[in-house]
Amino acid sequence: MEKQMNMENRTRSATPAIAITNLTKRFDDFTAVDNINISVPPGSFLVLVGPSGCGKSTLLRMLAGLEPPTEGEIAFNGKVVSSGRSGVTTNPASRDAGLVFQSYALWPHKTVEGNIEWPLKVAGWSRDDRARRIDEVLKFLDIERLRNHYPAEISGGQQQRVAIARTIGPRPGVLLLDEPLSNLDAKLRVDMRSELMRIHRATKATSVYVTHDQVEAMTMATHVAVLRDGRVEQFGPPDELLRTPQTTFVATFLGTPAGNPIPATREGGAFMFGKTEMVSADLAPGHEKVQLLYRAQDITVGAREGRPVVKATYAESAPIAGQSMVTCMIGDLRLTVMVDGFYRAEPGAEIELCFLRDPDAVFNTDGQRIS
Ligand SMILES: Nc1ncnc2c1ncn2[C@@H]1O[C@H](COP(=O)(O)OP(=O)(O)O)[C@@H](O)[C@H]1O
Ligand SMILES: [Mg+2]
Repeated sequence: MEKQMNMENRTRSATPAIAITNLTKRFDDFTAVDNINISVPPGSFLVLVGPSGCGKSTLLRMLAGLEPPTEGEIAFNGKVVSSGRSGVTTNPASRDAGLVFQSYALWPHKTVEGNIEWPLKVAGWSRDDRARRIDEVLKFLDIERLRNHYPAEISGGQQQRVAIARTIGPRPGVLLLDEPLSNLDAKLRVDMRSELMRIHRATKATSVYVTHDQVEAMTMATHVAVLRDGRVEQFGPPDELLRTPQTTFVATFLGTPAGNPIPATREGGAFMFGKTEMVSADLAPGHEKVQLLYRAQDITVGAREGRPVVKATYAESAPIAGQSMVTCMIGDLRLTVMVDGFYRAEPGAEIELCFLRDPDAVFNTDGQRIS
């Protein structure tokens, strides 16, 4: 009996909630999503993050069933819902997936209650079940007193709550969210971020969340896929991406502040940045030109004995938790470094940057990690 249960558990955990295989989407001869492979276990919070135009929404729309793939496959809990080859695309309603957009897209002529009720009706819930569920989600999202209001009568933040309530009403197994917080102001965004995480914990729905904001990605995700030009640049848990970025793109896209790759050339036994000896060339044997990755906290302003120092031009400084995040330029190279306490200089002033530790990682000139 126990053995059988173990087997069941194993089979269940072996089946990803979402499996994306060789997924490609072309619009004429433009490839928006390029051979993507990602799987996540049930209950994951997968964040797709990347700059505007990298294919995030196109990928999400394929997950939702709003867009057929050109090639490849999507399976939910082991069941294929989209396939480029066989042309299978089950319709959005039958995939057990709920979608929340950046624009709340509430029905303007229905009340809050009416908006939440509609998908339940479509899904065939009885009148009593609908009434119970509406009460439940109104309470869950703390919008009970808005029940009889129309969308035009409530704020943007409240509209987004209603949109979320409407989506989770039918208890979808997969929750798909496309930049749902982008239209909210900064404070509300942080509040709603915690709220969405609470909803995720409570519903346990496997979620796919699209954002261009790396802070949101790092805060909310169990799994992050960094997208660039339609491809997955790196996929993994947030801490792994922060600790061991596989490309300079990831190293400079993630983190607050992000990392600083510095070009260096081998001269004799050392890698040099300009005329400054940075580190022993043993760090990357066989490579002539590399990029050395320094964390912002490993560079500071002001020379220290025995450490590499270079000159830079001060641009600006932002106070953060008792330190200053200082941005400066060396030619076209922008660096972000940390200084203890409140630091400020004249914009354009020459300052000295000191590299307190050896680089965190070494990349080749194509931006791929070597060590
Ligand atoms: N229906 C479409 N027809 C042609 N090109 C499209 C279409 N939808 C998206 N694209 C293009 O695909 C790329 C990715 O778009 P999108 O997935 O919306 O990016 P993101 O959400 O990451 O900003 C963009 O260059 C966009 O112009
Ligand atoms: Mg988008």
